[in-house]
Formats: sequence, C-alpha cells, structure tokens
Amino acid sequence: MNRTPVSPWIGRVFILLVAVLAVTGMLQMPLAKRYYVTMVPGLGWTGDYYLTHVLHYVAAIGLMALSGYLVGRWFAGWRNRFRLSRSGIVRLAIVTALILTGAARMYKNLPDAAFGPLETMLLDLGHLGLAGALGIAALAARFSGSRAYASLRGSTRNRR
Ligand code: HEM
Repeated sequence: MNRTPVSPWIGRVFILLVAVLAVTGMLQMPLAKRYYVTMVPGLGWTGDYYLTHVLHYVAAIGLMALSGYLVGRWFAGWRNRFRLSRSGIVRLAIVTALILTGAARMYKNLPDAAFGPLETMLLDLGHLGLAGALGIAALAARFSGSRAYASLRGSTRNRR
C-alpha cells in the first residue's frame, strides 16, 4: 500500500514546475547578461525577459492547477488516511505564500493596479525571500531524511 498519497509522477511534475519557476524567476533579474550566461551556446534565450516572464507564468498556471488538484484530493479523502509531516507543513505554507505573492505581483503588473513603491518593494522582496526559503526548506528536508510531505496515518516514518 502507498505510504504517501501522491504517485511518483506527481512528485516529478511538482519538482519540474518549481525548478522552472525558480530558474525563470531568477532570470527576471538581470543575471544572465551580467554573468555572461547568454554567451554560452544555446543559452542566449536566458537574456530574453519576455520569454522567461511568459515561461514563469505558464509554470505558475501549472503549479496552481496541480495545487488545486492536490487540495481537492486532500479534502475529498486523503486527509483521513494520511497526515502531513512537519517539514511538509512548512513547505506547503511557503508554496502557498509564493502563490499569493506571485498572484499579487501579477496583479501589480496590470496597467491600472495602484501599487506604491514601498508595497512594490515589499512584494518583490517577499516573493524572492520565499523562493529562497523554499530552497532552504527543501534542502533541510532532503538532508534530515524527512522528504515526504505526507505519510500514512499511524506510520512512525516521516513524522518530521
Ligand atoms: C515555487 C514557486 C515560485 C518560485 C520559486 C518563484 C520565484 C520567483 C523569483 C526568484 C522571481 C524574481 C525575483 C523577484 O523579482 O521577486 C519571481 C518573479 C515573479 N513571479 Fe514567481 N515564483 C514562484 C511562483 C510564482 C507564482 C505561482 C506566480 C503567479 C501566480 C508568480 C509570479 C511572479 C511574477 C509576476 C514575478 C515578476 C516577474 C515580472 O514581473 O516580470 N511566481 N518569481
């Protein structure tokens, strides 16, 4: 019987989406040209802000769709059989905050959105800080051996 609710495929899709978001998010900052990444054969596209912006949005749609599916399944029955690990709760809180700050950044990009310079700066730093926090939380989970977000109720594995 499965000890975690999600199939390995869902896990892989989640990792792929977060990796695309992390890379395309970093590329929204003028990093690629400054550090000559664009000079590497085949990586010229990393300096195209419009392309990386669109890729970030496409991966964001994928992440929100996957999150919606998982939340639906959780409330439709998984929560009776599985429990979230502590590190899973921390990472879920960070991903939720990333989606909320990302959605607020999307709204800020609309022509009529009224965002002052302070709100804009706090939002930008918040989204960036959360992206870093997710990376640290993922590494901590990996090295402490408690990688699963959720495990079978009653099982002593993956409580952390
Ligand atoms: C794991 C999830 C995510 C990661 C790791 C991530 C990472 C990043 C990073 C590093 C940046 C650039 C730093 C900054 O300027 O703040 C960024 C920018 C941005 N992100 Fe995300 N992000 C994620 C999810 C999302 C989601 C779900 C949305 C939308 C709902 C979103 C929307 C945006 C927007 C609008 C920008 C600014 C880009 C622009 O205005 O061109 N992000 N993201």
